[in-house]
Amino acid sequence: MSRGLRLGLNIDHVATIRNARGGPHPDPVRAAALAVEAGVDGITAHLREDRRHIRDEDIRALMETVGLPLNLEMAATGEMLEIALRHRPHAACIVPERREERTTEGGLQVAGQVAKLKPMIGELSAAGIRVSLFIEPEIAQLDAAVEAGAPVVELHTGAYAEAKKGPARDAQLDRLVKAAAHCEKIGLECHAGHGLTFDNVKPVATIPTVAELNIGHFLIGEAVFRGLVPTLREMRRLMDEARA
Ligand code: PXP
Repeated sequence: MSRGLRLGLNIDHVATIRNARGGPHPDPVRAAALAVEAGVDGITAHLREDRRHIRDEDIRALMETVGLPLNLEMAATGEMLEIALRHRPHAACIVPERREERTTEGGLQVAGQVAKLKPMIGELSAAGIRVSLFIEPEIAQLDAAVEAGAPVVELHTGAYAEAKKGPARDAQLDRLVKAAAHCEKIGLECHAGHGLTFDNVKPVATIPTVAELNIGHFLIGEAVFRGLVPTLREMRRLMDEARA
């Protein structure tokens, strides 16, 4: 259970492994069902334009069969808006997307795109979908998120995760701490994610105004060694320990 900090499991990379052979195994929906057993609070899935991992059919199955809130990661395109409005997931996280990138490399440039994003956020919100924007931990982006009408932001923790332990990582953590505090000040719910592992999760989980962490690649990779449920339970334990 959440204990003040929710854990969202990103299941994209179960689909990556499945797609490597073109068959139905391993099924991301089965991973989502096991996540329920492990006490995870939500499932995140990124339907990319090129469908390299999650496919339309997965979104339908996740909505119909998994008893956890679905957070649909999506690019700010007309196609994705139409899909989100059709499925009406609990939440939609708008992310930047470039076809050639290996993963979501940076945050969304909300500042400068408010006019484009505002109507989309409005339509999603009117359909009862809780919208978040995946952004760098920068004050200008947070202020722009409020201007665009988003109730939630997800802070990109990639730079923190990639920084060398020591002063470089501390500096990145400081950016996250300051951004999370600013979220509270301007009324944004604050989530965080990208590149989080057993080794680096605790300082982020300690930030009191962060309400949710979305974690994928490390958990699915570690599950190869420990099994999915024990891996998820260990992440949950570390998050709870950080919050205690
Ligand atoms: N949050 C968002 C918005 C993402 O795009 C991703 C990566 O797809 C994650 C969280 C999870 O990142 P990771 O797979 O590195 O844990």
